[in-house]
Order: sequence, then C-alpha cells, then structure tokens
Amino acid sequence: MRSAKDFFAPLAVGAPVPPRDIPWRPSRVIHFFDPSNAKMAAKLPTLIPKVDVLLGNLEDGVRADNKLAAREGLIKIVEGGADFGDTQFWIRVNSIDSPWGLDDLLTLVPAIGAKLDVIMLPKVQGAEDIHYVDRLLAQLEAKANLTRPILVHAILETARGVSNVEEICAASPRMQGLSLGPADLAADRRMKTTRVGGGHPGYLVRQDPTPDDPAAARATFQQDPWHYTLARMVDACVAHGIMPYYGPFGDIADTLACEDQFRNAFLLGAVGAWSLHPVQIDIAKKVFSPEVKDVAWAKRVVDSMGDGTGAVMVDGTMQDDASVKQCRVILDLARRLAARDADLAGVYDLPGPSA
Ligand code: GLV
Ligand code: MG
Repeated sequence: MRSAKDFFAPLAVGAPVPPRDIPWRPSRVIHFFDPSNAKMAAKLPTLIPKVDVLLGNLEDGVRADNKLAAREGLIKIVEGGADFGDTQFWIRVNSIDSPWGLDDLLTLVPAIGAKLDVIMLPKVQGAEDIHYVDRLLAQLEAKANLTRPILVHAILETARGVSNVEEICAASPRMQGLSLGPADLAADRRMKTTRVGGGHPGYLVRQDPTPDDPAAARATFQQDPWHYTLARMVDACVAHGIMPYYGPFGDIADTLACEDQFRNAFLLGAVGAWSLHPVQIDIAKKVFSPEVKDVAWAKRVVDSMGDGTGAVMVDGTMQDDASVKQCRVILDLARRLAARDADLAGVYDLPGPSA
C-alpha cells in the first residue's frame, strides 16, 4: 500500500516534485513525425507554429534499422536549437518490452529531457508498466538535474490495457492522458478490421423490414466500433484528472471520414487526436475547437442564467443549473483556445492572446 502522503513525493532523491494537477494546454492536434527523416526534420520550423503538440515518433512506423537514427535525430533537433514557442514537445518511445524502449529513456531523458513535456508510452498493459517508468524517470531526472517533471501519456492499445484503464490513469501523478490506439488494439483483440481507426462497412445495423413488403430494400447504418473503448477511456481519464485523446486515422485520403471520427471523439469528451500527415492538422484543429454557433449559444445561456441557479427559457428550451454547466464547458474551452489563437478569438468574440 502506498500512503496518500507519499503519492506526491519524488521517487528518487533529487528528482523534481511530481505535479498535483495536469496543466491544461491546447492539444487538439498531436502531430507525428519521424526524426530519422532529415527531410521531415528540415520542415519543423514551419510546422511547429501550426500544431499544438509536435511528437517525435520512435516506435511503430520507424523501421528497425532506423531506430537509432531516429533517437539521434531527436537529439540533433534539440541541440540545433529548435524553437518550440508555446507548442508542446512530446516523444513516443518504443514499448518497454522492446529491444529499444530502455535505451530510448536512458539516452533521451538526459539529452533532451529539459525540453520534453510528455513521453508517450505504447502498449501499456497495467499500472505496473507506469510504475516502472515512473521510478526510472525519477532516477534519470535526478541524475540529469532536471527541475521539471516529465509527464507520461499511455496508449490504450491492448485488451489488458483497456481492462485496466482506471488503474493505469491512477498509477502516477505524472499521468497526463491516454490515447486510443485502434490499430494495435484491433490486432490484440482479434477484431476483424485491417483499418487504422474509423468505421467498417460490415459493422452496421439494418432497418427493420417493412411488414407489408418484406422484400423491400432496407437502409443500413454504419456503427462506430471504437465507441465503447473511447467512452470508457473518457470516464477513466476525467475521473483521474487527465486528458483523453483519439489516436490515429490511417486513411489519409479520406479527410471526410477522418473529420467524422475526430468529431465523434470530441463530442464524447476527447480533447484532441493524432495527425499522421499535414492534411490532418487543420482537421483536428477545426474539430477540437468548439463551433462558433455553439460558443455564441453558450454565452447566451450563461448570460441568461445570472448566478447559474434556477431555470429560464431560451428560444423555447429549458435551461437550468445542469445545462448552464454544459455551456460553461464549451465557453471555457473556447476562452482557453482564444487566449492562444487570435483568429479564434476574433470569430468567438473573446479575449485573444495579448488581452
Ligand atoms: C497506434 O499506435 C495504434 O496502434 O493505433
Ligand atoms: Mg500502436
């Protein structure tokens, strides 16, 4: 048993104190790049200001014979003085049971730890994986004299991970959030889809037959195979004060379905999604920013509700303490985004970055 008093104590002498709260920073889009690819690295100065989070990926998608080059690429980028401005810098390390996971941490925390906001851990199975990394990070932070704790983000991409989702979220004060990993999760669960996220034409419900014409065509509606996992993930994250994200959408050409999948996640409570290609950056930024009409409506309801108690009618709809809270969620997100983005501040009519 760990005492509540010990929970926020550093796990190594000299390590920074773990955070009590996860700082809210915009993270509508986590843009993945391969640091072993010099051409991609050269584009970072123009890419960084366009994304909320830039993530150097060392895991899947990077060939085995490029793993070391990817690690070295990250060090070069930081040593070359990359200016991240207010964009967050994350990395996705290889899983801790892979041949590279340990050295990713041993090499990168001392080399670039001072610049790193979050380490994304793939294939997390349970609290024991987080405990292992938590202690190791504390030791490495202490050795490197880091003054700011590095946060941890887990990908939910195994059946065991999903079964243990609450204990994963609760395992360390460093936990920043979770992403859904639909590709690995589909494989691990033996789902029969070969797509990376999104729907499947076979996963559907069919309209009932017409009683007097049973042979007539019946409409079908595709369902979202990720609904259950995402909803479970959102509850676990919110219960533990951390942030839920949709993960990757692999069909880069199908920007419409990508937008739909991201929007489902946004409506259910996710704060952002991954982008695997520059065309997905603006999709994620658009979808994970509240719509202008919803912000205007939320302002009206909040203004009409005075101290937030009682009930009023707005355009024929009943508003009360609970619905004003829903509106405050939208307005609060809009305010935070406007404070970073002058264009959004303009369309939302809210204070912008310099205000
Ligand atoms: C992401 O890592 C996934 O497996 O979908
Ligand atoms: Mg994966």
